[in-house]
This record gives sequence, structure tokens and C-alpha cells, in this order.
Amino acid sequence: MTTTGPRTDRYAFAQSLARRAGALASDYFGDRERLTVELKGPQDFVSHADRDVEALLRREVAAAYPGDAFLGEETAASFTGPLNRCWVVDPIDGTHNFLRGVPYWNVAIAYVEGGRARIGIVYDPVHDELYRAETGAGAWCDHGGASRRLHVAHPTALPGAFVALGHHDRAPSDRHLEIRRRMMAEGVSMRNFGSGALQLAHVAAGRLDGFIELELSIWDAIGALLIVEEAGGRALPFMPEPITAKAMCVAAAPGVFAQLTALVG
Ligand code: IPD
Ligand code: CA
Ligand code: CA
Repeated sequence: MTTTGPRTDRYAFAQSLARRAGALASDYFGDRERLTVELKGPQDFVSHADRDVEALLRREVAAAYPGDAFLGEETAASFTGPLNRCWVVDPIDGTHNFLRGVPYWNVAIAYVEGGRARIGIVYDPVHDELYRAETGAGAWCDHGGASRRLHVAHPTALPGAFVALGHHDRAPSDRHLEIRRRMMAEGVSMRNFGSGALQLAHVAAGRLDGFIELELSIWDAIGALLIVEEAGGRALPFMPEPITAKAMCVAAAPGVFAQLTALVG
């Protein structure tokens, strides 16, 4: 098994930060009956676990890199941009799973320069899997003290491809249903595990052949997409405008990328 170590200070810092944030989130996950859950909107949950983990991330970034900007899901309304030398984080991605005790959630961290992700981390504390990439250095998964290089799967056709089709559950979407219908007609095997960043990491790991979500936020996608690309996957350009708006996210193994992209067109 090949291993690689961190190349830059920020990359090493991002990995250690993800583990510290994941440990705090895990404490809450183990004691989640005590969390007070609030609704940000229909089917849009938040608890002080999300806010505390984001506060930790913000505090640690400010202490280590005081000149860097910070965009986090729970404080996005105060972000004034631009997306340069900026940490983009989702403290808990998959909050609904987290609150119901479903072990499919993660801490997502990206470091962005000039609008492009340079570092992407998706940390799944429940399974102790830390997915990571830095531009040009490949994608890796650290587990149990070992590092494994990630490669996307090699599907060659849509029928039988294993693809996650995400949806935020907050409003009905005819377009989502139409894409689902087209995928079903093509014989695609569909899933939605309820965490955008982790599903993207699982595309990078070859566990999924692709991932589509029509409306995804930058903190869910930007770092995880770097991991997919560094694992040999392909993705449509993703840059919401404005930065805190949602945008379509499509990423897949090269063998089905063009066909999947055509389905959402
Ligand atoms: C959500 C998850 C979900 C996706 C939603 C996201 P949250 O993030 O990634 O899988 O369908 O669009 O908002 O609210 O759990 O951080
Ligand atoms: Ca999220
Ligand atoms: Ca979140």
C-alpha cells in the first residue's frame, strides 16, 4: 500500500482540523438525544452541534491563519467574499442523518484560492475515513493509520451504473423527478444517502459511479469535487453565483460522465 504525507502547512493543518472537528461532532453524535433541534426552514435542521463545530473550525483557522477568510454554512449570511485564501466549511454535512443516528455524515473542509479549491477534506468520523486531496497530489483516504490512494470506478455504460441522486428535501422539484425518471429508464441503480460531500468522496473511492444534485451549496461541493478530480473523476464546473447560492453538481467516473451530463441537460 502506497502512502503519502502532507505537502504543505495548510494541507497538514486541514487534516488535523478535520479530525478535531470530527471528534467534537462525534461527541454530540453519541449524545444526540440531548441536542435541541431547530428548523432553519422546511426539512432544514440545525442544532448547537452544527454551530459549535463551526465555531471550532472558525476559531482554529483564525488562530493558525489570521489573514485567511472563512465561509461556513452556519454563518454564511455574514460572508462578504471574495473566495480567495478562504476556508469553506460545512461543520456537519448530513445533519438529518446525524440527528437520527444514521452513521452517514461528515465534516467538509476546503481551502480555496482565486475561486479554485486547493485542498479538499471530507472526514467521516464514524468510520474513521479521512478523504483528502491537494491540487496535483492525488486523492487519498486515511483509515486506521494507513493511507490508500483513491481511484474512481470504471463503469462503461449507464445501465447498472451505481449513482447517487441527491435532493435537499426542502421543496418538491419536478426537474429532479424528471432526471430520476430518465435515470430509471436507462437502468441506473440510484441511491441517495443524504450527505452531498460524503457521496462525492465515495465517487472518488469508486464506491459510487457518479453523483448528481441539482441544488447544492459550495460548502458541500467545492472540496469534495477536488477529491473526485484528483481520483481521476470528471465534474461539471461548479461555482454558484452568488457564492452562497445553490448550483447544480455533477461528478462521475469518466466512463459515464458524458451520459450522465446529457441526462441532466
Ligand atoms: C445537505 C446534505 C444533503 C443534500 C442537501 C444538503 P446539510 O447538507 O448534503 O445530502 O441533499 O442539499 O443541504 O444540511 O446536511 O449540511
Ligand atoms: Ca451540507
Ligand atoms: Ca451542514
